[in-house]
Amino acid sequence: MLDPDLIDLREFGERYYDDPHSVYRELRDRGPVHRALLPDGRTAWLVLGYKEVRDALADPGLSNDVARSRRERGRDTSGAHLLLSDPPRHTRLRKLVAKHFTPRRVELLRPRIEQIVDGLLDDVERAGAVDLVESFALPLPVTVMTGILGVHDLDPTRFRAWTNAIVVSDGGSAEAREALAAMHEYLAGLLAAKEHDKGDGLLDELIEARRDDPTALSAAELLSMTFFLLVAGHETTVNLIANAVHLLLTNPAQLARVRDDPDLVAGVVEEALRHEAPLKLAAERFTTAGITIGDTAVPGDGETVLLGLAAAGRDPDRYTDPAAFDVTRSAGGNLAFGSGLHRCLGAPLAAIEARIAIGALLRRFPDLRPDGAPTWWRSSVTRGLKNLPVRVSVERTYMVDDRKSVVRELSERVTLLMPELREVAFDETSDLRDFAGFDSLVILQLLTHAEEVFGVSLMEDDVAIDSASSVGRLAEHIVGNRQAL
Ligand code: HEM
Repeated sequence: MLDPDLIDLREFGERYYDDPHSVYRELRDRGPVHRALLPDGRTAWLVLGYKEVRDALADPGLSNDVARSRRERGRDTSGAHLLLSDPPRHTRLRKLVAKHFTPRRVELLRPRIEQIVDGLLDDVERAGAVDLVESFALPLPVTVMTGILGVHDLDPTRFRAWTNAIVVSDGGSAEAREALAAMHEYLAGLLAAKEHDKGDGLLDELIEARRDDPTALSAAELLSMTFFLLVAGHETTVNLIANAVHLLLTNPAQLARVRDDPDLVAGVVEEALRHEAPLKLAAERFTTAGITIGDTAVPGDGETVLLGLAAAGRDPDRYTDPAAFDVTRSAGGNLAFGSGLHRCLGAPLAAIEARIAIGALLRRFPDLRPDGAPTWWRSSVTRGLKNLPVRVSVERTYMVDDRKSVVRELSERVTLLMPELREVAFDETSDLRDFAGFDSLVILQLLTHAEEVFGVSLMEDDVAIDSASSVGRLAEHIVGNRQAL
């Protein structure tokens, strides 16, 4: 029989993934610390109160080294990265990379980050309707991080497929193991190539450090560090940017405040980190001594402890009205980046990327709006959007020189005006007059839209619109008129 005090997380079903905050609230109302049966069948201590999480993050009785867990006791972790290490190895590894991520150092990256953001937003503008994760939130941190590391030929989509399989599926599935193996093979190849063809990135510096002093870090530690910096440096930042934009779009009064006062963008980032922490749980800790978390005694023989960073951000004992998204809230002391020895090394980098990205997005598109419902990843550890469909209106300055993109925009608008067209294949042979919803108002609305979007005058012209092929002709007309401007 199950221990009556053991919370079986599987009983929450899909709610544990779809609406984690409601599960945390329910459990936290019963107490800040619980013994829980995890979806993967293991038992662990789940800590959900702000104070308890913060204190546990600083507790020397907790280790990050999996070899100290009950289940993994004795496992060889000599090649582990810094987050899975305890001092003195943690101290040695962190020191090797820390100088690249200080606030001063990342501030130097500002012009480069702005340039990448502007380029991505040019593409968003051209497309008009995009998945903001795929076209903006993802490529920004990948491009920045690969630049820092000195990796120049990484395919972001392929890389994301690997990291999703590893991080999102909680690492235990066969798919995750395959992705991990593929990524390690790729990274080992990359490091081997760098041995001969030196660049000027952080990885080149680590290779150099190892050449000068092989005890600085082992080959396994170098591979593991490369892997971890690439993964840690992007998955969470993608989530932060997309979660923050989603929160603004679903809280229009907050969005209006930020538009009125762009200095509030820093508050948006802080509040998004608190309200929707990209990492719901810190890395697993293991007890090395008997400790007390809150009022709960946890035995010291390698018990697993899960620290709820997302739950801590919504603790009513710490934050007033915690479920409200309030960009003017002083969310100081936020635990989304962890705290203590392992506090996120990339916090200044993630914050500057998110601030620049969100600030530029709002400035550039005054009418950024949702274009359908987004979907969330199903994960116990990360909290992030799989996609975020949005639409932006194209300003008059939008340059249209390509008939195909004009046809696409007009076809999308006709389909919006006449939803019955969604059911049929709308191509240049379709006759719009065959559809009940087609009338002169549709023509007028289409022409008005086209005038607004493409900045050409059409009402005076004699443009007959009755069939799909005439939409094609209208597109040609628009392109011709724009070129004449
Ligand atoms: C919004 C984005 C990010 C979030 C929410 C985040 C969150 C975290 C958290 C919670 C930890 C501590 C985990 C623990 O104690 O168990 C951590 C550690 C770490 N993060 Fe981040 N991170 C972000 C972005 C980045 C970036 C851009 C980098 C790039 C370098 C990075 C590198 C690291 C490293 C190296 C550690 C391990 C530090 C150590 O063990 O000493 N993170 N991160």
